[in-house]
Amino acid sequence: MIIEAKGIKKNYNGEPCLKGIDLNVEKGRFLTVMGASGSGKTTLLEILAGIRLPDEGSVKINGKDVFSMPDREIALMRHTYTGIVYQNFSLIDTLSAMDNIILPLALSGKKKGAEELAKSWAERLNIPLSALGKFPCKLSGGQQQRVALARALIYEPELLFLDEPTGSLDTKNTFNVLDILKEVNENKGTTIIQITHSKEAAEYVCDPCDILHIKDGVILQ
Ligand SMILES: Nc1ncnc2c1ncn2[C@@H]1O[C@H](COP(=O)(O)OP(=O)(O)OP(=O)(O)O)[C@@H](O)[C@H]1O
Ligand SMILES: [Mg+2]
Repeated sequence: MIIEAKGIKKNYNGEPCLKGIDLNVEKGRFLTVMGASGSGKTTLLEILAGIRLPDEGSVKINGKDVFSMPDREIALMRHTYTGIVYQNFSLIDTLSAMDNIILPLALSGKKKGAEELAKSWAERLNIPLSALGKFPCKLSGGQQQRVALARALIYEPELLFLDEPTGSLDTKNTFNVLDILKEVNENKGTTIIQITHSKEAAEYVCDPCDILHIKDGVILQ
């Protein structure tokens, strides 16, 4: 199992959000999580990625308990082994699109050839080369989302967490991104957990048994 989550509980201001979620994810799986707005999808994804702390429960990534890892090990895992695309993209405002994309490589001392690689991902993701020199605030929402995807895909993480990765994209870009995700899942064996509101997007990339629904703080399968 690449992810083993047990008994995940999270309350906000005394209100339960997640009520004891158990989830095991096999390596190479492509899972989609669906559910109404406010049902706890982002909370769950960020807990699974080791970014948000649950009130109770544990998460193991590749057999290691993420909430007891030393900070340095967590930081290393985040720019080498796992990749995440946040719902609000979380691009760094003071870096150009190009510098955002190559950031994970720069952080792991792999800057050589990084810009060329970034350009090839930009091309695949339909990001105009002219956009690469711009700051995120000068890009459209859809371009920012594709920059966030390029930043997560560039170092070929083994485990990808994607929070509504096509939420700001038009139909053509949505299917282009879904084709890329299918390709990295099938050919590179990348494990992917995505959140989407789109049944069409979920069914395009996942078998029905890999589409999970979250409601009232639990996963209905
Ligand atoms: N940091 C926080 N502090 C307080 N409450 C929060 C916090 N984050 C989320 N919540 C609450 O927890 C619930 C679940 O939020 P979450 O963002 O996980 O939902 P979601 O399923 O991702 O929704 P959406 O589809 O709108 O993105 C919501 O009621 C939200 O108000
Ligand atoms: Mg959300």
